[in-house]
Amino acid sequence: MKGTFVTFEGCEGSGKSTQLKLLAQKLDEAGADYILTREPGGSAIAERIREIILDGKNTAMCDECEALLYAAARVQHLKEVVIPALDAGKLVICDRYVDSSLAYQGYARGLGQEYVASINSFALNEYPPDLTLFLNISPEAAFARKHGADENDRMEQLGAEFHQRVYEGYLSLAKKYPRIRLVDCSGSKYETSQNIWRILANEGVVGASR
Ligand code: TYD
Repeated sequence: MKGTFVTFEGCEGSGKSTQLKLLAQKLDEAGADYILTREPGGSAIAERIREIILDGKNTAMCDECEALLYAAARVQHLKEVVIPALDAGKLVICDRYVDSSLAYQGYARGLGQEYVASINSFALNEYPPDLTLFLNISPEAAFARKHGADENDRMEQLGAEFHQRVYEGYLSLAKKYPRIRLVDCSGSKYETSQNIWRILANEGVVGASR
């Protein structure tokens, strides 16, 4: 593996999509050789699994099925998209990865770290990210900013307590894995974008200026 694997994590409405768009602009300006991809999805098969997982009508889905579907989409996307790009020496930026499963399914659903780690062992052991940026904003603040949850999204509908557990899960993962950095999101979106660039530059993922 010659490339660099950077993942982005955050709670619902943490501004991840906005930040990834701003980052992509900066990477384009810098002429970086990168791909920007996402989970669940990022390849045709994984996008179909995504539709099943997020479909608001699938209220009968059990927690284990949910966790296994995320893991299935992950391994497909890894083999089809991420690994070839890393092998080609590219920078791979992924919107969510295995820490989402550890936080949402492991902590918030209560399936436990061991179970979630075991069904994600290929990702966790063979392809851990080089660096993970967690957009550190509480779900309360995030939902207030986006004016509530999306009613068609099964995960967003899970309520404040669930999302608070997700947040606490991420904070505890950040203590466990030194590769996870907390991004200060208390300023404007442009300040947050600068914070992200600074962390990437400090880690040698991108050049310093911008
Ligand atoms: P998405 O609309 O992409 O959310 P966001 O813009 O917040 O990233 O939907 C992805 C949802 O799936 C989101 O609620 C987080 C959840 N998720 C998990 O629960 N486990 C996982 O392993 C992954 C990758 C996502």
